[in-house]
Amino acid sequence: MSFTRACATDDVPVDEGLAVTVGEYEIVVARCGDDFYALQNLCSHAAVELSEGEVSGCAIECWLHGSTFDLRTGKPTTFPATEPVATFAVEVRDAAVYVDTTTTLNGVTPT
Ligand code: FES
Repeated sequence: MSFTRACATDDVPVDEGLAVTVGEYEIVVARCGDDFYALQNLCSHAAVELSEGEVSGCAIECWLHGSTFDLRTGKPTTFPATEPVATFAVEVRDAAVYVDTTTTLNGVTPT
């Protein structure tokens, strides 16, 4: 695993994601309670940025057609999206969020 600093924990809003570039990927970092998650910042339905949507509980909502994605798994929980979004390992230390983009947690290949 190879973790790269993505942002400070304080940079991540409570109710929306934070878009950051880590390695070659656009990532959205979001929080669910005290935990942080990192997904590819790309809706699996029509390839818009998920970071533009709201975060509620452990889900982020796509602003365009309203699909919600579980931050923990990347899986859509509402239509129209049916395919998961790539999720990345996260480490929190020294008040910062680190993300490993060398592999995905859910086996989805980032695009
Ligand atoms: S583009 Fe995200 S749900 Fe359609």
